[in-house]
Amino acid sequence: MSKLFQPLNLENNILKNRIVMSPMCQYFGRDGFANDWHLVHYGSRAVGGVSAIIQEATAVSPQGRITYKDLGIWKDEHILKLSKIVQSIHDNKCLAGIQLAHAGRKASTPVPWLPNEKLEDGYSKWAIVAPSSIPFDIHSQKPKELSVDEINIIINDFREGAERAVKAGYDIIEIHAAHGFLIHEFLSPLSNLRKDDYGGNFPNRIRLLIRIIESIKQIIPKKVSLWVRISATDWEEGGWTVDESIELAEIIKNLGVEVLDVSSGGLTAQAKIPNKPNYQVPFANKIKNNSGIITGTVGLITNAIQAEEILENKEADLIFIGRELLRNPYFVFEAANILKRDLEWPPQYEKAKLR
Ligand SMILES: Cc1cc2nc3c(=O)[nH]c(=O)nc-3n(C[C@H](O)[C@H](O)[C@H](O)COP(=O)(O)O)c2cc1C
Repeated sequence: MSKLFQPLNLENNILKNRIVMSPMCQYFGRDGFANDWHLVHYGSRAVGGVSAIIQEATAVSPQGRITYKDLGIWKDEHILKLSKIVQSIHDNKCLAGIQLAHAGRKASTPVPWLPNEKLEDGYSKWAIVAPSSIPFDIHSQKPKELSVDEINIIINDFREGAERAVKAGYDIIEIHAAHGFLIHEFLSPLSNLRKDDYGGNFPNRIRLLIRIIESIKQIIPKKVSLWVRISATDWEEGGWTVDESIELAEIIKNLGVEVLDVSSGGLTAQAKIPNKPNYQVPFANKIKNNSGIITGTVGLITNAIQAEEILENKEADLIFIGRELLRNPYFVFEAANILKRDLEWPPQYEKAKLR
């Protein structure tokens, strides 16, 4: 039997196969609210047969949005539409996950496809924060260094975001600690020059993430699985390393994080990243085999044979697919056909089943 279609048992959830939809910002919300675009977008990937969907970076505070159109979960009013998205995902036998995020020094940027857009009425740019007052690049706004009181507020924002996510019905909460956003900025010595308990040595740099994990773990029920996405390396001399990622994985596994979703980069503009198929797989492999945590790998994985090989080689446990699922929501059905696996199709689509 193909590995790609073997279920994965988590403590209280079952992934029906190994293909997870990777979180991808749509920059299409308003005041953090999701709308019918998100309902259809996520619903159709659930119809398409992935085992779990990790909804895009969803901001825990308005200040933590990448753009003013990001989804948010900073107020109770956000819950209703999110719960409809969850329902649609569940109706199609798929687990629903949400990525909780704070963009740190990468907040308050334009929507990528509208770099010169005038913000819609009622919106303006906002002041941004980071562990240290170092801008992302020469074009970026200079962030304000967070005080310890402000750090405590952000931890609380994550906890409240998680509470709302539970109310909305999500099965998985993924903490976004990758791609140069706030938590990653604390992890990396390149962006964190603090002299207090949140900077300097490894235990201090991981402190924010650990405190967020602990505060979320306190309030989520057992059935909700906690995942973390990291950038395993900054691809930069003096930055966060794969060895530190392994050490972190061991610690957070013991705190009850079930899956580590292993990406890379995003901290600095100048990092040279060798974008090619499987380029991030060795990181997941090393972390999985040294820490024992369940890992997901992501990045330029676009076909069934490629994904199957990664699993067969025991380099990762889950395959996160991003852009290929934007091109082809039915990637999973096609993969099943290629790997000669007879998959159950939605009855409405049965007549179109690939044989
Ligand atoms: C449009 C777009 C939006 C993205 N938004 C997020 C996000 O919200 N959170 C995140 O962790 N990664 C985000 N990513 C990264 C993807 O999750 C994924 O890691 C990356 O695209 C590499 O995988 P792929 O080659 O399968 O697309 C985004 C990528 C794209 C293309």
